[in-house]
Amino acid sequence: MSPEQLLALDARHVWHPFTQAAAARPPILAASAKGASITAADGRTYLDLVSSWWVNLHGHGHPAIAAAIAQQAATMEQVIFADFTHAPAAELAARVAALLPGDLDRVFYSDDGSTAVEVAMKLSLQFWSNRGIAGRDLFVGFEGGYHGDTVGAMSAGHSSGFFSAWKGMLFPVETVPFPATWDGDDAVAAKEAASLDALDRLFAAKPGRVAAVLIEPLIQGAGGMRMCRPAFLAALAERVRAEGALLIFDEVMTGFGRTGPIFACQKAGIVPDLVCLSKGLTGGFLAMALTVAREEIYREFLGPDLDRAFLHGHSYTANPLGCAAGLASLDLLLSDACSARRAAIEAIHRARLDDLATRADISRTRLCGTIAAFDVGGSGGSGYGAAIGPRLKAAAFDRGLLLRPLGNVLYLLPPYCLSDEELHRAWDGIGQILAELAG
Ligand SMILES: Cc1ncc(COP(=O)(O)O)c(C=O)c1O
Repeated sequence: MSPEQLLALDARHVWHPFTQAAAARPPILAASAKGASITAADGRTYLDLVSSWWVNLHGHGHPAIAAAIAQQAATMEQVIFADFTHAPAAELAARVAALLPGDLDRVFYSDDGSTAVEVAMKLSLQFWSNRGIAGRDLFVGFEGGYHGDTVGAMSAGHSSGFFSAWKGMLFPVETVPFPATWDGDDAVAAKEAASLDALDRLFAAKPGRVAAVLIEPLIQGAGGMRMCRPAFLAALAERVRAEGALLIFDEVMTGFGRTGPIFACQKAGIVPDLVCLSKGLTGGFLAMALTVAREEIYREFLGPDLDRAFLHGHSYTANPLGCAAGLASLDLLLSDACSARRAAIEAIHRARLDDLATRADISRTRLCGTIAAFDVGGSGGSGYGAAIGPRLKAAAFDRGLLLRPLGNVLYLLPPYCLSDEELHRAWDGIGQILAELAG
């Protein structure tokens, strides 16, 4: 079929996510992808600076992951995960548990970031009820947090502003301010204190009521790449422990090396009670997620009664192809070559952000691991719907750069295979786009 025919089929039959089809440009027909580049059917290439929605850890089409999937597919593509287990699932669970700190040893498999969060929330509620403790049924999230599109995840992220159409189906979740910070921010300590005070007040007003506090550690992703300091997470963990509630780290985006160490909780020196992982887990090849629980939580689900068990699961739970991809991706992630690339990307980001910081039309430069972000000024306000966002994106696409601003926030979250030359090309392009839009 010709590209024109395929685009006509898409226009007639496909409903794209997060897209206002009445106003959007027609989608780009992707034909192949290798390393950091996506090639379109018309021959144009796009440098994937967002790791295709933050999943492609090592770039596209990595031969080691492709080979691992092919080998697994030839052996066993899928098997029911109740009454059965299999080597890739057992090995992947053990390897992830070994990388996580403390007794985060129990791995529950699900399908994507949203389900990983949904599982963590359901586990929290059932943990308290299995313990025979009534009334611990409230969740606390952070303003601007985003945790996915299922009902629990939407409820936890209700302040992100994405979910007004579904207000009626969400359950109440308390929120406290997130102490977002950036380079040279001299108000950060005051913001952290205000956030912790709000939490203290909430705990004081509702003693023994909070089941769990849920946070994207170090970086709120979809909320605008808003970053906080590791010390804030340590202070938060202390308060949550003192109140006796559970602490859930949603590391769906921050996991697998994005913030520097393999997991953000390591940077903060914290052992949360539950950790949600997805996105980079399979290196971007297959949809899969993990909710990792401390052993103490798992034990609360054991007993003679079926009711005490976690009666939750998905058809494709622990799909062997996804697990094989996860194992191959971990091998790549833990290699010296990958650490060196991540360090190089962070160093280039730092230098280029510092250069950019001299421009009057940008502010709030920030960096955490391989994630760099800044706010772009101009009329049209800020936030996800800021008018500047679509203009920035269109200008980037025209230059062969796949960037998806979050409103007026421009960020780079590249695959670790990105070369120095490619990254400098991206930053040069950003400089040209800003100059063009300013003119
Ligand atoms: C922190 C965080 N949690 C959960 C999700 C939901 O993940 P998914 O889109 O795979 O359901 C996302 C997605 O962007 C996320 O950034």
